Amino acid sequence: MGDKGTFWLPESASTVSGDVDSLFYLVTWISVVIFVLVVAAMVYFMLRYRRRHEAQVGAPAHESKWFEMSTIMVSTILVLIVFTWGFQVYLKLNIAPPGAYEIQVTASQWKWDYTYPDGTVFAGDLHVPADRPVRLVMSSMDVLHSFFVPQFRVKQDVLPNRYSSVWFEATRADTFDVYCTEYCGNQHSGMLGQVIAHPQDEFEDWLASAGGGGLSPEEYGERLFGQNNCNTCHSIDGSRLVGPTMQGLFGSQRQFASGESAVADENYLLSSIVAPAAQVVEGYPPAMPPSYGSLSQDQLNALVAYIKSVQ
Ligand code: CUA
Repeated sequence: MGDKGTFWLPESASTVSGDVDSLFYLVTWISVVIFVLVVAAMVYFMLRYRRRHEAQVGAPAHESKWFEMSTIMVSTILVLIVFTWGFQVYLKLNIAPPGAYEIQVTASQWKWDYTYPDGTVFAGDLHVPADRPVRLVMSSMDVLHSFFVPQFRVKQDVLPNRYSSVWFEATRADTFDVYCTEYCGNQHSGMLGQVIAHPQDEFEDWLASAGGGGLSPEEYGERLFGQNNCNTCHSIDGSRLVGPTMQGLFGSQRQFASGESAVADENYLLSSIVAPAAQVVEGYPPAMPPSYGSLSQDQLNALVAYIKSVQ
């Protein structure tokens, strides 16, 4: 939908992306023009003033004050134009309009959690109202991450122990990609999601149904399993990924790296999610981060119910 972007940039879908693009193209075309002029002059001089026989000595060079001053002035003016324009766009990108809709973002290895003003916590995809400024207040539970929506031209590092923020206004109801753009561990490339911009009234409806309302625990757990990117490390069909498969897990005998063993009951499933380092299954790396311990009790119950159902 909408324009599909150019060779250089993805489609543009926020109120600031047009400004960022204009600046980008200004810098690009200035660079292209200067590159062509410099290379053309270089080639011309190489041919025009090449050495024609062994004993040839060039004439002494005389500087041209006029030429030197004009190149210095032109470059200074170009740099000042780019700086002034860039600073204006920078301010626009960094100062959210008053009254922006605020969503808390929590990054962790390797998922995005979004907390809405009414307390709803939603993992995976970011649902927002279209045509309304949205401000994200972001922090990380573990390492550095970076929140990036190419189509909005917004990118901001997400840090542990301090807040950073970013704002945007989607110019249409559509779906856009979210990337983590700071290397944050071995599932960094799987730390993806989408921004889903709804028309305002649809957004209210979505928010009202965003929790587990109306779903069975297994259905809610299945949704959370996808939203929290559990499926990037744990298959549900018996195949081996980074971690053990969920298929047939419940009720099976687990052999741990420590030499101990246990039968996988509900308590085992729960403790494996909230304290994964306590019992590491033999033959697998202790790769699971402890960040899932921050899921709510409701969500943990639903995940356990779902994992039990994968047989
Ligand atoms: Cu999170 Cu890369």
